Amino acid sequence: MCGIVGYLGTRNAVDVIMSGLHRLEYRGYDSAGIAVVANGDGQPNRLDWVKSLGKLAELDRKLDGANLAGALGIGHTRWATHGTPSEANSHPHFDTSGRIAVVHNGIIENFQELREMLETQGFLFRSQTDTETLAHLIRMYYDGEAAGDLAEAVRGALRLVQGAYAIGVVCADHPDLLIAARQGSPLVVGIGEDETFIASDVPALLRFTRDVVYLENGQICCISRDGRTFETLDGQTAEPAVRHIDWDDAAAEKEGFPHFMLKEIHQQPDVLRNVLQGRLAPDTGDVVLADLALAPDQLKACQNIVIVACGTAWHAGLVGKYLLERFAKIPVEVEVSSEYRYREPLARPNTLVIAVSQSGETADTLEAIRIAKQQGAQVMGVVNVVGSSIDRESDGVLYTHAGPEIGVASTKAYTSQLAAFALFTIYLARLRNVLSADEGREMVAHLRMLPDKIQQCLDQAGIIEQCSRNFKYIVAHSALYLGRTFNYPSALEGALKLKEISYIHAEGYAAGEMKHGPIALVTDMVPAICIAVKGDVYEKMISNIQEIRARQGVVLAIATEGDIKVAQYSDHVIYVPECFEPFSPIVVAIPIQLFAYYIATNRGCDVDQPRNLAKSVTVE
Ligand code: AGP
Repeated sequence: MCGIVGYLGTRNAVDVIMSGLHRLEYRGYDSAGIAVVANGDGQPNRLDWVKSLGKLAELDRKLDGANLAGALGIGHTRWATHGTPSEANSHPHFDTSGRIAVVHNGIIENFQELREMLETQGFLFRSQTDTETLAHLIRMYYDGEAAGDLAEAVRGALRLVQGAYAIGVVCADHPDLLIAARQGSPLVVGIGEDETFIASDVPALLRFTRDVVYLENGQICCISRDGRTFETLDGQTAEPAVRHIDWDDAAAEKEGFPHFMLKEIHQQPDVLRNVLQGRLAPDTGDVVLADLALAPDQLKACQNIVIVACGTAWHAGLVGKYLLERFAKIPVEVEVSSEYRYREPLARPNTLVIAVSQSGETADTLEAIRIAKQQGAQVMGVVNVVGSSIDRESDGVLYTHAGPEIGVASTKAYTSQLAAFALFTIYLARLRNVLSADEGREMVAHLRMLPDKIQQCLDQAGIIEQCSRNFKYIVAHSALYLGRTFNYPSALEGALKLKEISYIHAEGYAAGEMKHGPIALVTDMVPAICIAVKGDVYEKMISNIQEIRARQGVVLAIATEGDIKVAQYSDHVIYVPECFEPFSPIVVAIPIQLFAYYIATNRGCDVDQPRNLAKSVTVE
């Protein structure tokens, strides 16, 4: 949901900002822009800027020969919320004089009334965005109460604003001052020697520094040549913690793969090893969650669990429900965060709310946990990004250790979330004395085999690519994904992967629901991807496959290695290694991801930056 970068230091800000924006392009890519404070050479300093419609490559082209230079600047890559993607609506936005510039991620909810108030005072608007309001408000205070104090003018403007923001502000009158502030949308401050960076997310900074401060809600950071001050909007000094990021710069590069998505799919054996590392006790059948920070007694006292999440993370939560109810014997509900937050839910003090989020910044999930906390529930995050808002606002966090996920389509984050639920299930089941040591040992042993099983799936990438070519012509309009129990969420996830990156309409269904309506869709032009791995519901899936074939449907089955029966009833089969059924969604995820990837790339789609999407949904 928009990426912002800012810089004050000794290098050319243009290089730093463009490098950072490229790392944040996954957050939005419909237009982009940059502004730097340029030396006036005897005249007053001025703001030089370049904006462009489209992806960052377009801005790169425009910058070539534009001669933009300066040691202070801000930049932005946009995912439109207010106003269509256009050069006029792209950031930075300026006050009427063009001497104050603002980049913004978030939504100013009361912008319409603020705009009307400003227009009656003669401020001239050039765009349809909510952000431009901020630039004029800052000018209003700068010329008025703040009397030329930029930080004070920003504070004044932000006091009038309702909504979510992360902003960077520069002013041509102050060549050594960069202001950053945050409410709701994420912002990190990168700390270097004689230089400071701001960015929406850490990957933008890794090339320059790994020491960062996560700005808290309601904080403002004033960056000058003398250092940085952190304060609340009402002027209280804040003492921020500097965190050192472990990820190296290579983690934010494609490393030889054509797309981040393919790289991230192939990273999954290592990711699974990371998630499990140090958390399994094979001898006792236990799981050790040393970093969870939720007291075992508190967890034991919980009587029900509510899982809140969005998109792929919601699918991971559904698998979590099946695992927790079956093995930890605790009632679990799973809710889409955007529904939970608005339907006046009844969390109780003995409810454990689990928020699942790769980014840790998804606005609806963040708000859902705030509501749950107000009602006295304990909140546990299942989060990838350490230091993110959901990480900081949860009572305890199970980190998924997947490393930075750059591809907009979630892949390794999903399997790491599934593994985290498997770990938590064993942990809670043992705590509640509903899983014996022998059963625990067996489950732990199954978990330890997963990285190798994932690798075996990846070794078949060529076969899956071949298969996707067979399917290329028939999946052009619509596809069905079917599964049961643990692999019903796999069907939902398969359909989401296909539609979000290939733009083919796809629906995921619980296979048992087919006869209640969706079977009417079956034709030889609507292929059904049926997840029919060996397990309790295998025979039921075989019956569903036969029902589809009886109606001239085309079936691609995802089945267990060596299963000849399924091949008799299917047009194509992708095999996965034999697997403990409750953990099979982790293995099934690989062919599902690869299949969607190859279909999309065959169709010439941009899988890393699909249309209309952004990686981190920090607006509701
Ligand atoms: C899936 O491929 C998407 N990227 C999307 O559904 C994503 O899972 C969702 O927006 C939730 O994001 P989060 O995990 O960062 O909260």
